[in-house]
Amino acid sequence: MHMLGNWKRTHYCGDLTAQDIGREVILMGWALRRRDHGGLIFIDLRDREGIAQIVFDPEVNAQGHAVAESVRSEFVLAIKGTVIPRPEGTVNPNMKTGQVEIQVSECKLLNRSKPLPFMLDEHSEINENIRLKYRYLDLRRPQLQNNLILRSKVSQLTRGYLTENGFIELETPFLTKSTPEGARDFLVPSRINQGSFYALPQSPQIFKQILMISGFDKYFQVVRCFRDEDLRADRQPEFTQIDCEMSFIDQEDIITVMEGLIARIFTEAKGATVQLPVERLTYAEAIRRFGVDNPDLRFGMELCDLTEIVKASGFKVFAEVAAKGGIIKGINAKGCARFSRKDIDDLTEFVKIYGAKGLAYVKFENGEWHSPIAKFFTPEKIATMNSSFGAEEGDLLFFVADKPKVVNDSLGKLRNHLANLLKLTSKDEYRFVWITEFPLLEWDEDEGRWCAVHHPFTAPMDEDLEYVESDPGRCRAKAYDLVLNGNEIGGGSIRIHQEQVQSLMFKLLGLSEESARSKFGFLLDALEFGTPPHGGIAFGMDRLIMLLTGSDSIRDVIAFPKTQKGTCMMSEAPSLVENKQLRELGIRLAEKQA
Ligand code: AMO
Ligand code: AMP
Repeated sequence: MHMLGNWKRTHYCGDLTAQDIGREVILMGWALRRRDHGGLIFIDLRDREGIAQIVFDPEVNAQGHAVAESVRSEFVLAIKGTVIPRPEGTVNPNMKTGQVEIQVSECKLLNRSKPLPFMLDEHSEINENIRLKYRYLDLRRPQLQNNLILRSKVSQLTRGYLTENGFIELETPFLTKSTPEGARDFLVPSRINQGSFYALPQSPQIFKQILMISGFDKYFQVVRCFRDEDLRADRQPEFTQIDCEMSFIDQEDIITVMEGLIARIFTEAKGATVQLPVERLTYAEAIRRFGVDNPDLRFGMELCDLTEIVKASGFKVFAEVAAKGGIIKGINAKGCARFSRKDIDDLTEFVKIYGAKGLAYVKFENGEWHSPIAKFFTPEKIATMNSSFGAEEGDLLFFVADKPKVVNDSLGKLRNHLANLLKLTSKDEYRFVWITEFPLLEWDEDEGRWCAVHHPFTAPMDEDLEYVESDPGRCRAKAYDLVLNGNEIGGGSIRIHQEQVQSLMFKLLGLSEESARSKFGFLLDALEFGTPPHGGIAFGMDRLIMLLTGSDSIRDVIAFPKTQKGTCMMSEAPSLVENKQLRELGIRLAEKQA
């Protein structure tokens, strides 16, 4: 094995082009592939920037050729050589370095590698847990490298843009008190104060508000947040937010600055233009037309409300739901009349996940309805429904009747599901939309109390202030989400800046004065000392990068992610700790239930 000695790398492998022909270079990297052609040995040498083909000719350099013979996958090499054009017929137009190769004059083997548990150069179907266990190898794959390099670029662009716009980057504690963002807290036991716990922040929400009270005026932070919740493809227990807060502003100011940030990121990191101003929908309209508050606007297939048309019909299911205050809505699966019985059964099972009790359907063929429910409707009603659906030859119409929440949820999710099945979307199209005028509160059936839709510091809309106590359900909030292609990539609000309103809010949420004091007393105190009107937003950095890189999972844009079960396959966290550590913390584990 060799040492680097006085060798200094001159180029990254991936940077060499025809312009470098004739140049003496020193490259360092990993051997991706080796091809032994009898006399000549070719190695694809890989580093962060890409791959260069290096050639060992025994006639030119016998020592190097001998080293090359022993090289296996992922051995680490340094080579000295000359950039030469590839012989005719061997040029690879798909590679940046595909016009050249490097004739090696000297070679140092810097390190060996054990045989790999999986190949790096193939899109083979390796179990993700194995990839995560050997994350250091997985991260050598160009795709993951590029994802993380783009992520770094987005951090830099964010810092640049926000700094130019007068934001100050400040840090807030990780060992702190519980913040109410709706998930469970991760707790950290205190050794010095046995029996007491810190909570890892679900977001810097309270601290950034306090920084406004302190007069920093505009704050941002690229910050880790921790939430103990059930994980999905777009969620991690620790994730990164681009967190911002501003003083003496209203919703329009925040939206304008943040649109500028998003446009900057998409233009500079991706070469994509973002049409400004970004489209807006109120929450009510989003639910009415798309069933969800994170609509994907890359395709149509909007929901239609049929309640008025079908409530007085012979179809008992619909009539009864309408009589009980429920609604009946539909969606037109364009061109899907060809779907089989089995396809429709699968879709019926799909909507049941969201609580629907069934999925009535109509095939629109030869200008008429083919459906078990056709007999219940007069030709006039059918004609009216056709026009609501925009039904055309070959369409498949679906109906769900239930409580509004179930109908909207199930048809909204069905709409996305159909778009997937029908491949209606492209990852290269970016459709942004702001969702505004969210409800302030929602009724939690299980807990029998009102809950904050965004968080308890969000201000009600001025028009609705008078109903906060008398009719909480109808109050809208000064809250907004930014949605991209059906993903919520950011959310924020104008905050309550008066202590009385904040106390009232806690009361509405069923927090006694005492418990509000013990949880957020420091915020309530601070609010009494000249709090400026303020508001902010946080973007989910991981989700943003996931969409920018066209990744299917948030795990592909995080260097060391957790599995769905919240474990790190590589380090095996979470793990047991020694009894001594527990004793120091004053913790005794409950007996494991058999
Ligand atoms: P919110 O809870 O909406 O707002 O979070 C802001 C954004 O963070 C992203 N996000 C997540 N990303 C990955 N994994 C998760 N588990 C996860 N949870 C949330 C989403 C979301 O839009 N304090 C407020 C912001 C504010 O009001 O200023 C907050 O945290 O993209
Ligand atoms: P049934 O009367 O239960 O045989 O159902 C007739 C058709 O109506 C079937 O296609 C069911 O899937 C559908 N259906 C039943 N309940 C509902 C509902 N709540 N909403 C929409 N369709 C329903």
